[in-house]
Amino acid sequence: MSEIAKLQIGENSYEFPLTKGTENEVAIDIKTLRGATNGVITIDRGFKNTGSCESEITFLDGEKGVLRYRGYSIEELAEKADFLEVAYALIFGNLPTQEQLNKFHADIKSKSVVDDDIKKILDAFPKTAHPMGVLSSLTSALTAFNPSSVNVDSEEDMYNSIVKILGKFPVLVSWTMRKKQGLPLNYGSTSLGYVENILKMMFEQPNESYEISPIIKDALDKLLILHADHEQNCSTSTVRIVGSSHAGLFASLSAGISALWGPLHGGANQAVLEMLEAIKADGGDTKKYMAKAKDKNDPFRLMGFGHRVYKNFDPRARIIKKAADEVLNDLGIEDPILDIAKGLEQEALSDPYFVDRKLYPNVDFYSGIIYRAMGIPVEMFTVMFALGRLPGWIAQWKEMRLNKEPIGRPRQVYTGENLRSFVEIENR
Ligand code: SDX
Repeated sequence: MSEIAKLQIGENSYEFPLTKGTENEVAIDIKTLRGATNGVITIDRGFKNTGSCESEITFLDGEKGVLRYRGYSIEELAEKADFLEVAYALIFGNLPTQEQLNKFHADIKSKSVVDDDIKKILDAFPKTAHPMGVLSSLTSALTAFNPSSVNVDSEEDMYNSIVKILGKFPVLVSWTMRKKQGLPLNYGSTSLGYVENILKMMFEQPNESYEISPIIKDALDKLLILHADHEQNCSTSTVRIVGSSHAGLFASLSAGISALWGPLHGGANQAVLEMLEAIKADGGDTKKYMAKAKDKNDPFRLMGFGHRVYKNFDPRARIIKKAADEVLNDLGIEDPILDIAKGLEQEALSDPYFVDRKLYPNVDFYSGIIYRAMGIPVEMFTVMFALGRLPGWIAQWKEMRLNKEPIGRPRQVYTGENLRSFVEIENR
């Protein structure tokens, strides 16, 4: 392949260099385009064909259904690693030695106490508040109690803000859930592992000791790993662009949480369960919902299906589907919702509308079935997605800052009114 791209505009032709990644992805570097063409730009709604950065963190191949964090396959990580190991690899580049992991976890635990005044902010929310809105607010509020986490120009300052948020975020997740349930706010125990501690904080009842189920701990580990990063998705791009103005890490993460909340993105896992429940209430009539999903006049979409990048099976959905079977079986739970999901999947995978558009189950299609089996309320499903995605957001933010990426500021094509004169109100 030649090393340049040629562009012809009218009588003029221009050349732009090609850049190639380590997995042979090719991009046209158009940084000189506007200057060379006296103002011509590109436009690409939804950035479907536009790269925002070069990154060493996650590689995915949507056509082949491949996903790797720092070169490690998602299948191997889900099978062999635990979530904190994967978080370390995403943030620092390689899987940790035992000594590195021990220090990382110790540093996180040492910073995991949340200023008690945060509870006053939490108390101000009505119990009906959606947990994603609460979590986004509390995450941004952390900045006020940790001002040194904003200007992280030194490696030490950046490390300290990273271990702070990895320690405090699970506490905020637990408090957000427990507030809605009317349960006392708690801390776990620094004697526990990272994921075990999350379970204890979320599920411990004030009047009994909490026994950690190995099945549930393994399932949560796997789910958090599978959600940990996904290159330049909507919420990660949000974290990067907010961080590019040199807003602090916590403020950037708060913006990412808001982006993830949307039902087209992370909010889909909650929407999938609500859709499956509606189908169940409708007597399992999947055909009605398939018809709605295909009807252009109906805004309804088959939630948990389709993906901007995967035009094959989302590899995470394969793993989660298998895990859902195992967890329900191990816990002795019969959940008709799983059968409805499988039926819907089979129908969609043989329906020309879905096949022609390469719409397959994505990460959100089966995850809610496991969350529900674990006793997590449906409104907390997207919060669990955020808990998993946290290390990926951190890794991407850190890479953007260390690479000294310029402030993100896209161009536009103006399609509004041409110059016109002001008209006094009495003459309008
Ligand atoms: C996540 O980007 C990431 O990596 C995200 C994520 C991550 O880890 O960060 O993987 C997590 O967000 C997964 C996606 C969760 N969202 C959903 O499950 C919501 C349902 N899915 C869709 O809304 C949709 O598939 C998107 C938003 C996921 C992707 O949309 P695109 O890439 O913008 O595709 P599109 O909307 O242009 O759709 C192309 C065609 C359209 O039909 P035509 O106009 O060509 O006739 O496919 C149709 C769409 O109407 N279509 C669907 C559909 N998804 C796409 N039709 C019915 N049901 C669907 N789910």
